Amino acid sequence: MAVNLLLGLQWGDEGKGKIVDVLTKDYNIIARFQGGPNAGHTLEFDGIKHVLHTIPSGIFHDKAINLVGNGVVIDPVIFKKELDNLNKFNLDYKSKLLISRKAHLILPTHRILDAASEASKGKAKIGSTLKGIGPTYMDKTGRNGIRVGDLELNDWKERYRALANKHEAMIDFYDSKIEYDLTELENEFFEAVKVLKTLTFIDSEEYLHQAQKEGKTILAEGAQGSLLDIDFGTYPFVTSSNTTAAGACTGLGIAPNKIKDVFGIFKAYTTRVGSGPFPTELFDQDGETMAQVGHEFGATTGRPRRCGWLDLVALKYAVHVNGVTKLMMMKGDVLSGFKTLKICTAYKYQGKTITHLPYNIEPENVTPVYTEMKGWSEDLTGMTDPSQLPKELNEYISFLEKELETPITIVSVGPDRTQTIHR
Ligand code: GDP
Ligand code: IMO
Ligand code: MG
Repeated sequence: MAVNLLLGLQWGDEGKGKIVDVLTKDYNIIARFQGGPNAGHTLEFDGIKHVLHTIPSGIFHDKAINLVGNGVVIDPVIFKKELDNLNKFNLDYKSKLLISRKAHLILPTHRILDAASEASKGKAKIGSTLKGIGPTYMDKTGRNGIRVGDLELNDWKERYRALANKHEAMIDFYDSKIEYDLTELENEFFEAVKVLKTLTFIDSEEYLHQAQKEGKTILAEGAQGSLLDIDFGTYPFVTSSNTTAAGACTGLGIAPNKIKDVFGIFKAYTTRVGSGPFPTELFDQDGETMAQVGHEFGATTGRPRRCGWLDLVALKYAVHVNGVTKLMMMKGDVLSGFKTLKICTAYKYQGKTITHLPYNIEPENVTPVYTEMKGWSEDLTGMTDPSQLPKELNEYISFLEKELETPITIVSVGPDRTQTIHR
């Protein structure tokens, strides 16, 4: 049985959490493959909004197993808070939440290092979520990290101490004047580790291998977005993992030839939170309207998201890098009421018009070239069937499908599970 992937095609927050929740009924296993609590995945149903950071977005369904894969970095403190939230809803997660032994742990000093590194960069800061993501992946690739499986060994606290001591020296090096009480942070950390240890740790690559042999259906859930990928994103304004399709292979131990569909999610416009280039960013009333109507505030940090028109040059790049087979367009409802919609179809770059994403997309290098389309005025939020969609929206969709050479199979018209139109 094949594995399907679901990932974001822009700068994150495309609506991955919502769609994973919608699709979970068709899968036996939902597996997160990279990122950590920098992610904020929002789900809404029965009038309640849930935000997940590390736990896969299939957790609210009765049957599906939710796996936190080896490519994920886990902060036990945040993980415990997520579990506390699930407990409020009397959700029995113990039987359906599994954690890879090979997933790395975010230590309290990783978070401080993240803050110290950002402070040292001044205006050039990445705009990190300050969850310790960069330093944890640095320790992973530097071969110093502590993994979930280490918690089952007797000497892990000694290894923890040695690493935390090293981090303290590094924090001093930054001379960032960040104040912290490590004893307090460590007490909280060790308490949270105790809770983490009540869950089931597994050799997840073997588990997934067996599951595939038994014909189980698996959906791999990505975090962040393709333009935040450590290799293919707008480096250095990126996250520290491979958010693109290949990340699912290394982040779960799934072989490339086992992947069937790659679902690529995008917003009908574009948003970005944190620093870095964003060619179609708007600084006018249109951008303001997108932010207001779309409630564009980060699910993890609460920071306002920057908004702009859809960038087809960037989107095409993401479709290619990921091998997207099916597209899903989110937040079409937010564009209702715009008389004219703009889509960036090319860039002016070094005196030429280009349609591929160049090495450097800083504002001084690229100027977007727009195609204009007629907007629609209808409120989409109550629509449930493709036949109800306004003509202008269908034209918008058809234009994108043609340009991207990929079908749009879901049109999302609101945050709730039910506000999802399958085409
Ligand atoms: P993720 O990180 O990709 O899971 O996305 P986030 O949860 O960070 O951000 C998406 C936001 O848009 C959340 O607040 C969702 O509830 C909301 N949302 C998702 N789909 C739609 C939609 O079709 N329309 C509207 N208006 N909101 C949506
Ligand atoms: P989800 O999964 C949007 C951004 C941060 C910053 C950069 C690096 O909810 O789509 P990091 O903390 O990873 O070192 O930050 O990446 N970023 C996200 N932006 N959605 C996310 O996740 C993000 N995770 C990280 O804002 O610009
Ligand atoms: Mg998010």
